[in-house]
Amino acid sequence: MIRSIVRATGAALPRRVMKNTDLAGVVETSDEWIVQRTGIRQRHIASDDETTASLGEAAARAALAKAGLEPNDLDLIILATSTPNNTFPATAVEIQQRIGMTKGFAFDMQAVCSGFVYAITTADLYIRGGMAKRVLVIGSETFSRILDWNDRSTCVLFGDGAGAVLLEAGEGEGNLDDRGIIAASLRSDGQHKQKLYVDGGPSTTGTVGHLRMEGREVFKHAVGMITDVIESTFSQAGITADDLDWFVPHQANRRIIDASAKKLGIADEKVVITVDQHGNTSAASVPLALSAAVEDGRIKQGDLVLLEAMGGGFTWGAVLLRW
Ligand code: UT7
Repeated sequence: MIRSIVRATGAALPRRVMKNTDLAGVVETSDEWIVQRTGIRQRHIASDDETTASLGEAAARAALAKAGLEPNDLDLIILATSTPNNTFPATAVEIQQRIGMTKGFAFDMQAVCSGFVYAITTADLYIRGGMAKRVLVIGSETFSRILDWNDRSTCVLFGDGAGAVLLEAGEGEGNLDDRGIIAASLRSDGQHKQKLYVDGGPSTTGTVGHLRMEGREVFKHAVGMITDVIESTFSQAGITADDLDWFVPHQANRRIIDASAKKLGIADEKVVITVDQHGNTSAASVPLALSAAVEDGRIKQGDLVLLEAMGGGFTWGAVLLRW
């Protein structure tokens, strides 16, 4: 059977680093509060010349270079983002143009912080359905542009960045030893849409709007939703937490990550953490964390890796793959 196998990863972060102490001059907060409640120590913030498209382009170029491939070796680009350069066209087509890809197709996908997990699952279906052989899945965000910099309950949490994963069709036996994507579960529940949203849009206010979040409410639901969707992915694949080599969760809050890993019985040393360095980069957080763990040699070929995300909507999901 056809499997979607990871061939390379790429990452891009804005030049400017904003530490917690830098934020203490913007809103009434402290390094101590931010570290204790979230685990975040710093985040990257895009300068005027850095956009979702430029960061996505840089991550795309890095993944292509590592794979030793040309842009026209790709059939499809899926960009997960909630902060596109323009309302339309899709920022994915801008990235397509910027890297010089003149064939295939490209589109954006919007599932907020779960965007990358939704996008990689979609890419897997295109590959297994035979419509694409190589798909570049990018998560790129510039949340700094939609933050209310007077709201200390949200502006300290987010950062900007981009990560990319290049998937390629390969042969598998249809069992757990196969390389590539093995199982996935996606969920959404629009009943929670007011708990994490942006208060603007083209069809309502005609403005871009700012991010609004009932943090405590999101927190309350997060661990249950995350562990639920992971358990359903485990049962699809017939595995337990002990079979995993790496857990690469969405990087929103260290306390949510730790509580989810504990509830699932995933050992601390298998958990990839970047929230301290990047803050919450929404759809970019999982591919950025994946890229970091591949670059430093933790994730190696043959490892069983679990991805997970949860965010606005609510949307949530998990993907199990063998590297
Ligand atoms: O990626 C999408 C998913 N999003 C998330 O997963 C976020 C989920 N939520 C969270 O991570 C946490 O709820 C937060 C980190 C947002 C907040 O942590 P918390 O422990 O739930 O704090 P809280 O909202 O209950 O606020 C506690 C106190 C409040 O003061 P009072 O009412 O107790 O006097 C806040 O006003 O902390 C205050 N506070 C702050 N203090 C200093 C809120 N933000 C700040 C701040 N600095 N930046």
